[in-house]
Amino acid sequence: MTLTDKPIPQPLHWHVLGAGAMGCLWACAMAMQARDGASGRAQVSLLLRHQAALLSYPGHIKSSAMAQPVVMPAHTTGGNVVDLPGQIDNLFVATKAQDTLPALTGVAKYLTTDCRIVLLQNGLKVQREVSQQFGAERVFCLSTSHGAWLRAPFDVVHAGNGETWLGQLTPASDDSAARQQALLAVLPAQQLNIRIDDDIAARLWRKLAINCAINALTVIHDCRNGELLRIPAARQTLTRLCHEISALLQAIPAAPAIDDLFTQVQQVLMVTTDNISSTLQDVRRARDTEIDHLNGYLCELAAQHGLACPVNKAVLQQMRVLESRAKQAAQHTINQRPLT
Ligand SMILES: NC(=O)c1ccc[n+]([C@@H]2O[C@H](COP(=O)([O-])OP(=O)(O)OC[C@H]3O[C@@H](n4cnc5c(N)ncnc54)[C@H](OP(=O)(O)O)[C@@H]3O)[C@@H](O)[C@H]2O)c1
Repeated sequence: MTLTDKPIPQPLHWHVLGAGAMGCLWACAMAMQARDGASGRAQVSLLLRHQAALLSYPGHIKSSAMAQPVVMPAHTTGGNVVDLPGQIDNLFVATKAQDTLPALTGVAKYLTTDCRIVLLQNGLKVQREVSQQFGAERVFCLSTSHGAWLRAPFDVVHAGNGETWLGQLTPASDDSAARQQALLAVLPAQQLNIRIDDDIAARLWRKLAINCAINALTVIHDCRNGELLRIPAARQTLTRLCHEISALLQAIPAAPAIDDLFTQVQQVLMVTTDNISSTLQDVRRARDTEIDHLNGYLCELAAQHGLACPVNKAVLQQMRVLESRAKQAAQHTINQRPLT
């Protein structure tokens, strides 16, 4: 073999689907990640939903974690305006849970047959659906306690340093362990403190259970996390919710048992006492919440298994009313604005 016959190493190319808070945070971390044994940095492209977002994209992302803006190309995925120049080998999906399947469908024809799909969403519903639809072997799930928010479009603040766990919903095997290791090697493992979890499903279930106990209640009581322990009515519903969620998990065959859910929830509420839950933030901004992937999903699972879940159902119903009221109020404000 002559020198010129040598296969040219393909640069790692990440496509980040969804350039919100998490998409921007991860895209920057990936772009700055020097690859082991390779001279260049990973190439990163953003996939945006709308042409309008593309037109407003300044050509770079600012991240509070980076000294300099990080330059990267962007393309659109919405409607018929996909303008990707090539195929996708590595897809990082950073949309909200309810947007994930439509977003993936929008780029499906660009995915190579062995494209890795990495999911970051809250909940467990979409991870299961995508694994089923796209093949569990190429789908990877993350569970992260990092926090991020957008100061402005494409300008992200890394608000809370945390950890990230990586795994697959496939049964544990040497193959899946090797796939996870290979992925870990090309992710910004140090920057975002990423580790492999051999039982990511159990971790996602636990997070789902905790989010189902906390998030909707913060909307119903319009309060910060810690206040759920201090407002008597909130604490009472929290106790009943934890009890019901534990019983549901006990009865759903694929779920792990969580006996001390209230204690775990209490610990989370104490550590995050001043936080405003993501669901409350969404309602305050009149944005779609991920509630259908939290208490909504638990209620779906309960129905599938013939289990009663009156507390979750009541919370879900209240959430839907409050969510729609917030959207109506926002629409009203828009309608009241004088035309300029
Ligand atoms: N932020 C955090 O601190 C945090 C922490 C842990 C976990 N998470 C999870 O991470 C996920 C993302 O959260 P986030 O806070 O980054 O949400 P976000 O700021 O709302 O970002 C989601 C982005 O996805 C975009 N999007 C939706 N559909 C799309 C499509 N078809 N094609 C391309 N882009 C599309 C949205 O665009 P539009 O603006 O056009 O809607 C938005 O820019 C959620 O599941 C969340 O629960 C977030």
